[in-house]
Amino acid sequence: MAREKGGNVERGEQGRREAGPFRCRPVTKKGEPVRELYRRIAARYDLLAHLYYLVGFRGRAYRKMAVRDLNLVRGDTVIDIGCGTGLCFSYLQQRVGPEGRIIGVDLSGDMLEKAGERVQKSGWSNVELVERDAAEFDFPGGVAGVVSVFSLRSIDRYEELMRKAALAITPGGRFVVLDLKLPDRSRSWVKRLFLTFAKPFGVGMELAGFRPWEPGQVYFEDTRITPLYFGFAYIFSGRAPTRPERSSRPDCGR
Ligand SMILES: C[S@@+](CC[C@H](N)C(=O)[O-])C[C@H]1O[C@@H](n2cnc3c(N)ncnc32)[C@H](O)[C@@H]1O
Repeated sequence: MAREKGGNVERGEQGRREAGPFRCRPVTKKGEPVRELYRRIAARYDLLAHLYYLVGFRGRAYRKMAVRDLNLVRGDTVIDIGCGTGLCFSYLQQRVGPEGRIIGVDLSGDMLEKAGERVQKSGWSNVELVERDAAEFDFPGGVAGVVSVFSLRSIDRYEELMRKAALAITPGGRFVVLDLKLPDRSRSWVKRLFLTFAKPFGVGMELAGFRPWEPGQVYFEDTRITPLYFGFAYIFSGRAPTRPERSSRPDCGR
């Protein structure tokens, strides 16, 4: 899995940001493939996710903020990468309405089964679920926004996914990531405590090397990073380029 190249986003000749090489190591729990992890926890995922409220982690509010950052309007098509059980679907529905389209992509059939139950229960007829590695997903045309909530860190080729998303999203549409991170300045015991809480989701020290905003700042324009939960989470948001050449930079050695 490790494909770390190290390095940072650098300024190009005309002051524009040039591609990496970036850190391209996805964050997965050592020894347990992502699919297995989510097979094991799919049935109690929603409960687990909501339990984090007990330690002040406002998952619902953060999801709402991420969806708001997509700037969607009624009738839009939006892709939810690593949609899991569909915890973002209701917020997306509020934005795109029944005339819009929501496509949920996930590697785990078990998580998608739960998402399917949610869709059926809510009577939504505009949601499609796709069981696939997100890096291999072929984006359809006319996508107004792409969101990835607590999933990008476990996607092996996330940088490739970001590059493809930048090409697929209609110019002006937005790409939004809500995920976890380790703040640079936090004490090590605080980080360890945080990682203990995040362990059920396969999160480990590898999180320190996960910096998707670096390729994000190359592939997207008007980028913003909003720190959340004392810097242990963030929302990255960027606008799809109006100049296509910006999103065709070289990637991580592939
Ligand atoms: C922590 S859950 C987040 C689910 C949901 N987005 C939410 O807000 O609760 C991470 C999800 O990402 C999915 N995932 C991980 N790697 C993936 C990949 N390569 N392609 C697609 N989905 C992936 C997992 O199966 C899981 O459902």
